[in-house]
Amino acid sequence: MASIDYDSKIPNNVELSSDKRLQRALEHWLPNYIEWWKEMGPTEFNDKDVYLRTAVSVDSDGWAQFGHVKMPDYRWGIFLAEPEKDRKIGFGDHMGEDAWQQVPGEYRNWLRRIIVTQADTEPASVEQQRLLANTAPSLYDMRNLFQVNVEEGRHLWAMVYLLQTYFGKDGREESEELLERRSGNPDHPRILGTFNEPIQTWLDFFCFTMFTDRDGKFQLLSLAESGFDPLARTCRFMLTEEAHHMFVGQTGVGRVVERACQLMKEHGNDPEAVRKAGGVDLPLLQRYINFWASSSNDLYGAEISSNSANFFGGSLKGRAWEMKNHEEHTALDQTKSVTTWDGKQLVTDDVPLRNAMNELLREEFIEDNQKGINYWNKILAKYDTDFELRLPHRRFNRAIGTFAGFHFDLDGNPLTEEQWNARKDEWLPSEADRDYVKSLMQQVVEPGKIAGWIAEPPKGINGKPFDYEYVKL
Ligand SMILES: [Fe+2]
Ligand SMILES: [Fe+2]
Repeated sequence: MASIDYDSKIPNNVELSSDKRLQRALEHWLPNYIEWWKEMGPTEFNDKDVYLRTAVSVDSDGWAQFGHVKMPDYRWGIFLAEPEKDRKIGFGDHMGEDAWQQVPGEYRNWLRRIIVTQADTEPASVEQQRLLANTAPSLYDMRNLFQVNVEEGRHLWAMVYLLQTYFGKDGREESEELLERRSGNPDHPRILGTFNEPIQTWLDFFCFTMFTDRDGKFQLLSLAESGFDPLARTCRFMLTEEAHHMFVGQTGVGRVVERACQLMKEHGNDPEAVRKAGGVDLPLLQRYINFWASSSNDLYGAEISSNSANFFGGSLKGRAWEMKNHEEHTALDQTKSVTTWDGKQLVTDDVPLRNAMNELLREEFIEDNQKGINYWNKILAKYDTDFELRLPHRRFNRAIGTFAGFHFDLDGNPLTEEQWNARKDEWLPSEADRDYVKSLMQQVVEPGKIAGWIAEPPKGINGKPFDYEYVKL
């Protein structure tokens, strides 16, 4: 396995220097990428030194090196996990064949679509988060935001490498378009809905990294099983970076919960009292959770899907931990019970398993989310509050799939339009909620200081204390 070559313009462990054509194509794309970063990334902070980790090896231990860097100088590059010797395809119709090192002609379009859809989310999230540093609650948090941003940038590099290496002219065109779509732009939006939602506050950011980055984890887990080996190896390495993003979300919300508890102890449990003291009250936090969890549920697509069957059958996209957690890998002659809405009532049917792969992945996502909820509820229990946070039911507030266009409460019970309208402000952030959260967002940049609506983290980054100068302003 080639170690990471940091001497070339584009750091890589794919022996880029031996493929001049590809190297030229990527070097041509690089300045366009930097231009995009300078325009659509955290623009005002491009000349600041940020304490970032950079990948130095793709081994599971010691892959990261920490140091102050200016973000545009971050060593974005192309890193694939170590190849597995004589790897065989583990699932679907091509099970047992040698893993593909080139794109099979019959799957070219599907694979391109899978890769472009994943790729598009990476720059989208950087765009969504571009103004947040202006209201960072501490230098520690600002640094975490920038770490997430540069790594999403690197994930875009990873996907563009696949497009440029294996998809010829189409791949080069797709690579350009990835820098042209814009999150939330009505004329030229990003591909998936959640990635066009504005992330206006840090509460949105923490919920996004908790729920939406976790969708990323499950998509990557299923693509890490792909019969197309370069995709599998790319995703395996991306997963190591993704873990930090979810850490930021889970502990970020956890610190908001902790702070709310501290304020409740001082000022009483009334949500109004928490607000008066400058905190995020728990019902308000629950509404943000409802919004981002339900929006992220949509990212798995329709409950019953012929695409999901095609992708699994074609050995392109497996289940999460396909080889580790499943014994049977064709998913043929098996069914899964799936509940849908026929416009009037809930209907439960046994669906061929391959057609239910979206729903299966969504279920695992929901289970994983529940662990985060449990972690927050442990904090609440520590402070003896009787409030518990929860996940909304998967039917709640959906815009994609069988439940889209209909209304369900947090427990999944159907509602009429009137019932929904009468109660939706109990469940989703209202304008007034959003205005209040925005009013809390004041930048705090003195090392060791933190905004009043969030608790300090129990420890800093890479053994540094909380009051370390993570960003030199
Ligand atoms: Fe990513
Ligand atoms: Fe991420």
